[in-house]
Amino acid sequence: MKSKSENFPVITIDGPAGSGKGTITERIASNLGWEILDSGALYRLVGLAAIREGVDFNDEIRLARIAETLDVSFVPNGDGVDVFLKGDNVSDLIRNEECGSCASKVAAINGVRNALLARQRKFSGPDGLVADGRDMGTVIFPEAKVKVYLTASAKIRAERRLNQLKNQGVNANLASLIEDIEERDKRDTTRKVAPLIPAADAIIIDTGKSSIDEVVSQIMKLVEKVYKY
Ligand code: C5P
Repeated sequence: MKSKSENFPVITIDGPAGSGKGTITERIASNLGWEILDSGALYRLVGLAAIREGVDFNDEIRLARIAETLDVSFVPNGDGVDVFLKGDNVSDLIRNEECGSCASKVAAINGVRNALLARQRKFSGPDGLVADGRDMGTVIFPEAKVKVYLTASAKIRAERRLNQLKNQGVNANLASLIEDIEERDKRDTTRKVAPLIPAADAIIIDTGKSSIDEVVSQIMKLVEKVYKY
């Protein structure tokens, strides 16, 4: 199946957990007035649905079936997007560590990835799409003209997560966050299907070495050059 990006502008932003993809995707999309695809949310939703339905994380057939029939909607709320699973607003719930870890387990299953492929390619906006994930530039939108891969050390990424959790009033421990991140990286980069790797034509940016403003401006320059904005 062909992806939409052959005739539709798509910017792909891939990278590991905590590399700044979410923030940078939002900034780029808001600068351009384009839509966002938060592909990680789809995997988190499959993980959450599996927990709610009591499905074993080794049961690949049932997990793929959950992904195929996922009843989900993304509803703009003026300040972002609310995520609904079977009509239940799960926007905050899917962001917790447990859903992140379950997402990375279900994401290693071929049947789950295949079921989510078409769903992701259907995302669009009136003008263009900024797609955030792990395989946006390699598998979902391989024809995208602007591909970015964000990275940063596991320690820096864990420190960002620690700050986020502190701001939410949640206590966490840096060492265990580093361990979680490294475990998730390992699972994401070594899985057989769509492993986390930069696309051959992606620009790689270390977000531990530049400010968010600098990264956004670097990407915007690239977008301006490619799309003659
Ligand atoms: O980006 P986020 O942290 O929300 O993603 C949660 C998990 O979903 C990741 O650790 C990864 O295993 C999986 N994922 C994926 N492919 C994507 C997006 C997310 O495998 N395109």
